[in-house]
Amino acid sequence: MTATISSTMPRPTAGQSGRTPVDRQELSARLLGSAAKRSYDPVVDIDWDAAIPGGLYGLSPEWSTLYGTPMWDASSEEQRITLTVHEYCSISGVGIWFEHLLMQLVLRDIYGDDPAQPHVQWALTEIADECRHSVMFARTAQRFGAPSYQPPGSILRLGKAFAAKASGPAAYAAILVVEEILDIFQRDLMKDERVQPLTRATSQIHVVEEARHMRFAREEIARRAPELTSWQRRKQRTMIAAVSAIAVENLVQPGVYAAAGLDPEKARAAARANDHYRDKLREAATGLVSFLREVGLIGGPSERLWKRVGLV
Ligand SMILES: [Fe+2]
Ligand SMILES: [Fe+2]
Repeated sequence: MTATISSTMPRPTAGQSGRTPVDRQELSARLLGSAAKRSYDPVVDIDWDAAIPGGLYGLSPEWSTLYGTPMWDASSEEQRITLTVHEYCSISGVGIWFEHLLMQLVLRDIYGDDPAQPHVQWALTEIADECRHSVMFARTAQRFGAPSYQPPGSILRLGKAFAAKASGPAAYAAILVVEEILDIFQRDLMKDERVQPLTRATSQIHVVEEARHMRFAREEIARRAPELTSWQRRKQRTMIAAVSAIAVENLVQPGVYAAAGLDPEKARAAARANDHYRDKLREAATGLVSFLREVGLIGGPSERLWKRVGLV
């Protein structure tokens, strides 16, 4: 595995973009400079022929949807390893789905703008990052011998409609929700020695490049949110809450349980009732939730949806 990263990008904090407006072109120029200094090409930066060692998990066991449940306790070590490998492939497979949606949102957002402007060049750079990430995650599943997990057809159709229609801060907020939750998750994986080198390398690459995406998304949200009328704000809040709920509920597809020799129905019910997993997700969403509150995009009736999926 050749992907090693000596230091990572600082994680954006909730307060840094909510109050002080940052010039869009200046920020874009800075992000372009950072991308020029540190970007990856996973097709060549990862050793895809390296052996997959036995005895290592696909993700940190504490991030497994079943960790701490009687089903986890009753599973063999081999089953836990298979389960966590498939869970990582499912989460990154659903990540590919989301990357395909956000590439469309970003491209629609800059359509017709002057390509000489830094924000357009930054948006194209972000899309190029996502193209490489999607290939990286697809190959990871192939290398682990897992299927290409993705959400069911009904969710794929909903996503397509969202990508075609969404605009305003909700588009960037939807991007941010998934990027921030995955960021916290992958920061844990990349330094966990109990985890497969392929998981750690792909997580490291994603964390470094996504830090720039999150910074840009936060600024776009902070800039656009104050321009909303109260009716638009209500609509945007509902949309963001719905996308977040759907994304979180679909991260781990039921096929992962069958792959580990577990009953998919029973395992899914155990995962849904697993307070430990809910706590991990809620902790991962803490910074994001306080930022979205700060800019007025969480609140009112939509808050019920955030609570239902356990993110608030
Ligand atoms: Fe990505
Ligand atoms: Fe991204």
